[in-house]
Amino acid sequence: MPVSELERQIREEITRDGPMPFDRFMELALYHPSLGYYRRPRDPFGASGDYYTSSQLQPVFGRLIAQKIAEWEEQLGRPEGFTLVELGSGRGEAGREIRTRLPHARYIEVEKGAGRMPERFVGVVFSNEFFDALPVRVLRFDKAGPRERFVGIRQDRLAWVEGDPYAPLPWMPPGEPGQICEICLEALRWVERIAQSLERGFVLTIDYGYTERERQRFPQGSLMSYHQHTAHEDVLTSPGERDITAHVNFSALADHGRPLGLRPLPLESQARFLLSIGERDEFRSALHAPDEAEARRHRMLLKTLLFGMGETFRVLVQEK
Ligand SMILES: C[S@@+](CC[C@H](N)C(=O)[O-])C[C@H]1O[C@@H](n2cnc3c(N)ncnc32)[C@H](O)[C@@H]1O
Repeated sequence: MPVSELERQIREEITRDGPMPFDRFMELALYHPSLGYYRRPRDPFGASGDYYTSSQLQPVFGRLIAQKIAEWEEQLGRPEGFTLVELGSGRGEAGREIRTRLPHARYIEVEKGAGRMPERFVGVVFSNEFFDALPVRVLRFDKAGPRERFVGIRQDRLAWVEGDPYAPLPWMPPGEPGQICEICLEALRWVERIAQSLERGFVLTIDYGYTERERQRFPQGSLMSYHQHTAHEDVLTSPGERDITAHVNFSALADHGRPLGLRPLPLESQARFLLSIGERDEFRSALHAPDEAEARRHRMLLKTLLFGMGETFRVLVQEK
């Protein structure tokens, strides 16, 4: 069967260097400079793409987030140089809406290879579906300890192969023999970077994921690929052609941030979080529209955010 140019390069690397750690595979599949899923000219989002994010159900999502950020700004005492940092801003829809509503704030977008988090600032670090797009390592628990799952070649196809962990594991969730889980060390490094730079403020992380306790519901791990609005468990086929994600382990983010000064608030569903923002004026300001047709569209978007994606997505707020 003919393989894509990216798969050819991956196979070449495996043949040369041996089985490839999954985080390397995911990095290439999503972010190879010209052939990675997020680097190709084709837009992965929207009706003709593979999925929508909440930000793209704009403008209601961005407006509600902006309203929450404005509350936090008040709470922080309207500091001079109030700064918003958005991690993995993608097409920037949420950012546009937030910037319009908070024009006085310094807004910094951090995308792969573009934009940097300032060294010290007071404000908010916001991300939507950023952490689930970071490369993960995959482990399978064995009686003797964790085994690393690599990508190898078997019967002329990319396939999982197991071996000893290829690098130290500074953090390991507990697991029963046979269980598979992902660990995202890159996410922990981001928590460290945020804790170091954020002098005072809030970290708002929206994503789908689980707590450490809920992880037990995914004994075979949570890796998924998305192609044309369909989810697949197979993540090795057609690298570069489909999105690959892993559930975010919110307990890991919260536990890692705590000793660094990021105090986690209780994890909430996206629905609950957005509903609490709309409590004061029943979403009137977020749904405001110039005409009835637009207002109806906004109400539909709100319903999707609350009921379509509202329970799957979680919101972690950390305070410093
Ligand atoms: C699933 S998209 C979400 C985009 C946007 N936040 C939204 O809600 O539509 C994930 C984004 O994270 C970005 N990303 C991945 N790794 C990154 C990194 N190390 N630094 C900055 N951005 C990164 C990707 O390029 C991609 O745009």
